[in-house]
Formats: sequence, structure tokens, C-alpha cells
Amino acid sequence: MNAIELSHVSTAKPVLLGDSLTELEVMRDVSLSVPEGEILALIGPSGSGKSTLLRMINRMEDPTSGRIFLFGSDIANLDVKELRRRVGMVSQTPALLPGDVADNIAYGPNLRGEPCNPGDYLEHVGLERELLRRPASALSVGQQQRMCIARALANHPDVLLLDEPTSALDRTASRNIVELILRLNEKLGLTVIIVTHVMEHAQALATRVAMLVGGSLIEQGPAVDFFESPATETGRKFLRGELAEDGR
Ligand SMILES: Nc1ncnc2c1ncn2[C@@H]1O[C@H](COP(=O)(O)OP(=O)(O)OP(=O)(O)O)[C@@H](O)[C@H]1O
Ligand SMILES: [Mg+2]
Repeated sequence: MNAIELSHVSTAKPVLLGDSLTELEVMRDVSLSVPEGEILALIGPSGSGKSTLLRMINRMEDPTSGRIFLFGSDIANLDVKELRRRVGMVSQTPALLPGDVADNIAYGPNLRGEPCNPGDYLEHVGLERELLRRPASALSVGQQQRMCIARALANHPDVLLLDEPTSALDRTASRNIVELILRLNEKLGLTVIIVTHVMEHAQALATRVAMLVGGSLIEQGPAVDFFESPATETGRKFLRGELAEDGR
């Protein structure tokens, strides 16, 4: 069963050109599937649409055409709150809510009036329970990234979307996050889509790879195949670090 499936998804965003507002197509006819329990690394140059794709999966943005399915259900027909409970998102810069770490982690269950023991999730992501009463803003960026993962986990998601969760971290902290993701995938059977520009991480984590260039999907398949021999010259250039942002 596919946890996530995109079918011919396109989207446009408004841009100001001189005095007039026009729509710029930022994603073009993307079809992509992520089987349950797999880890997909979503890669591509800056501005290629990786964050946009993640944001469409939990309806922070809607496609202009095409459909997105969560375990076979069109997400356009799902209740947005329930969709966001099932599809946890950790954004490119840690999103902090007011209050302490415990309030941040229990945010979803509190909204729904469900019980939650924030300390359990803190342990899950390898943070000390003594951080629970600290303001979220007083954590290091690495701790904030982990807290955001704990917040997503407190909702018991089926899918976790991670947008460059290691971009602000040093090598040790990054390595810890990579290991955490592998553990969550293995222990909880979580399906994961991770955006990363660190190929070492993509290689350590991913069972599948999808590569976007200029809003088009140019590679999709098993990670071992991609890292051994990309199907396209653009993919080969990207792996060698020779691809410019415009995809040439
Ligand atoms: N709010 C917005 N309004 C207009 N255009 C936008 C907006 N957000 C993103 N874009 C454009 O959409 C395209 C895709 O952006 P997106 O943030 O998805 O790229 P990305 O692959 O995540 O890049 P990065 O690796 O730098 O995070 C880019 O051309 C970007 O300039
Ligand atoms: Mg991005």
C-alpha cells in the first residue's frame, strides 16, 4: 500500500513582476509514490520545489491541479486537522509555540482534549526530561529540532515529513538525528519523507530517492540504484556536486 501518492501534481505561486502579479509554475506534473514503511529522500537544487511538495502533503498549500492520496484517500476530502495529526511535519526552521517544552510537545493532544505524557516523547528523541519546563526558545537549535520531532510523534502520525532537519546542526548532532529517524522508522514503522542536501544522510537513510529540478521530477526509484548509477545526466551531475541551481 502506498502511504503517500501524488498524481500529476502541479502548482503555481504568485510573483510580482514589475507592477503586475503573475502566477509562476513551481511544480509541474509530479507523480510520485511512497510505499508504507519506506524512507524517501527528496533531493534537488535550492528552489526546485522540495519544501513546496512537503507543504502540499499536509495541505499548508494546495496544488493547482492533480491529486494527493494518503493511504488511498484523497487528502482534499480529509479533515485538515486529522490529516495533520496523521502526517507530522517538521519544517525547515524549527517552529516554536509559546510556552515550555511540555506545552510544545503536548500541543496536538491538548487541542483534541486527549491525554499526553510529554516526557515520554522527549525520551524518544533522546532529550532529558529535565528540559520539560524550559521555555522552548531557550533550547539549542538541535534540541529544538528534536522537540519538533517529539511534537509530531505525540500525535501518533503514520507519516513524518522532515524538511532539512539537520541543516543547522554540527556533524554529531546531525548523525544523532539520522539515527533517530532510522530508529523511528524501524520501531514505529513510520513512513518518512526527508528533504536533505547532505547526500551522506540521504544514502544512510533512504530506501527510495526522488529528485526535483525546477519543479519537475527527474529521478525516482530505489536509493541503491540512484546512488550506484543515476538514470539521468542531471542526476549524475547533482551527485558530483556540479549541478547549478537552475538545473544545468
Ligand atoms: N511564498 C512564495 N511566493 C512565491 N514564490 C515562492 C514562495 N515560496 C516559494 N516560492 C518559489 O517556489 C519555488 C520552490 O520553492 P521551495 O521553497 O519549494 O524550494 P526548495 O526546493 O525547498 O528550496 P531550498 O532547498 O532552498 O529550501 C522557488 O522558485 C521559490 O522561489
Ligand atoms: Mg526548502
